[in-house]
Amino acid sequence: MKVEPKAGCWDGLFVPTPPVEPTSSGSFAGFLPLRVPSYNRGPCFPRLHWQVRAMSGSTFGHLFCVTNFGESHGPAIGCVIDGCPPGLALSEADIQPDLDRRRPGTSRHVTQRNEPDQVEILSGVYEGLTTGTPIALLIRNTDQRSKDYGNILDTFRPGHADYTYWRKYGLRDPRGGGRSSARMTAPMVAAGAVAKKWLKEAYGTTFTGWMSALGEIDIPHVDESQIPLNPFFAPDAGIVERLEAYMDALRKAGDSVGARIEVRARGVPVGLGEPLYDKLDADIAHAMMGINAVKGVEIGAGFASVAQRGSEHGDGLTPAGFASNHAGGVLGGISTGQELVVSLAIKPTSSIRSPKPSINRAGEPTVVETFGRHDPCVGIRATPIAEAMLALVVMDHALRHRAQCGDVRLPIEPI
Ligand SMILES: Cc1cc2nc3c(=O)[nH]c(=O)nc-3n(C[C@H](O)[C@H](O)[C@H](O)COP(=O)(O)O)c2cc1C
Repeated sequence: MKVEPKAGCWDGLFVPTPPVEPTSSGSFAGFLPLRVPSYNRGPCFPRLHWQVRAMSGSTFGHLFCVTNFGESHGPAIGCVIDGCPPGLALSEADIQPDLDRRRPGTSRHVTQRNEPDQVEILSGVYEGLTTGTPIALLIRNTDQRSKDYGNILDTFRPGHADYTYWRKYGLRDPRGGGRSSARMTAPMVAAGAVAKKWLKEAYGTTFTGWMSALGEIDIPHVDESQIPLNPFFAPDAGIVERLEAYMDALRKAGDSVGARIEVRARGVPVGLGEPLYDKLDADIAHAMMGINAVKGVEIGAGFASVAQRGSEHGDGLTPAGFASNHAGGVLGGISTGQELVVSLAIKPTSSIRSPKPSINRAGEPTVVETFGRHDPCVGIRATPIAEAMLALVVMDHALRHRAQCGDVRLPIEPI
């Protein structure tokens, strides 16, 4: 089908084509690139941006806009950050520490896939400063072992995305879970590190996450300085031995378990969030539910609010600040200036040795046992991912708030 581009605009750049083969990425499926003169490209760029966003589901954020690409066993994964403010000092060294916290193979309690997850900044930084142009971040895959996935070429792991990807796209990349793999969280951790750095410099905002339950074991919040010192991100040194014994027994049994993760953002300015439908808490829930294996998100008192009275739940205001924080730092979808309090329920890993009933692509019954290298508790590596996703939400809303309400002045300081 031939479509003429409209003059002075990018409208003609992506146009519908006759039906095409579905792709597992979804990106650009059904759209055909056309050439338009370069002098026509400026004014209508946002229109193109929205066309791509609406379709693929691979882009996150409005003004701090992150597009994620890659597959678990492809040559590389990465992201493009569009909209980062200029003038931020940025190098790989600002990003790598968070990737190192997420990366696999760092203890016997996580997958033994050995990926260095070294980030490369390909664009958007000149002489050590962000230029305001797109920042492309690349992480090469180096330790793919696709033969481990031979037995799920034709079958579907219960609890994983194999069946739904196949049903939706008509084909799938089974190697390492393809696009549904949690490897796709690494570029978001990298982008989150950029957001964290900007927010720290602009507002003093910090992000801290930890594990608060591993299976049925509650982990007390004793000392946050312990979080980086053990493989579980546990804020209590006293419980680590018990967690190790629990994980060793679980691995021997060929089973997996869920976890609960807490994240806090501290030093968040009051006013972030765009009611009605881009409320800060709504966007936090959206971001957290986008993390693989997350089955529940709570903000503040969360589900405990059900059993509370209004006399207890409502956080009193005083000239010196709020008296409590059952709201979790958000009222009416707008940040209060208190800590953002977010907690996540993470399901048990679905790729386990224990046999489970499934079907094959012919619809016949079968039994699936998964071998290869998997996280026996995916929650263990989820903490830096949750921090990064919260940072991306806060960053995007900080830029949105600045754009619309940056000039608002009130007679009193925030409490
Ligand atoms: C850090 C992390 C690591 C993960 N590792 C594995 C894994 O090794 N094996 C597995 O089956 N699932 C793993 N998952 C979970 C799957 O990616 C996820 O369950 C799958 O994509 C289906 O999506 P859903 O659980 O969100 O519905 C991991 C998740 C996270 C957050």
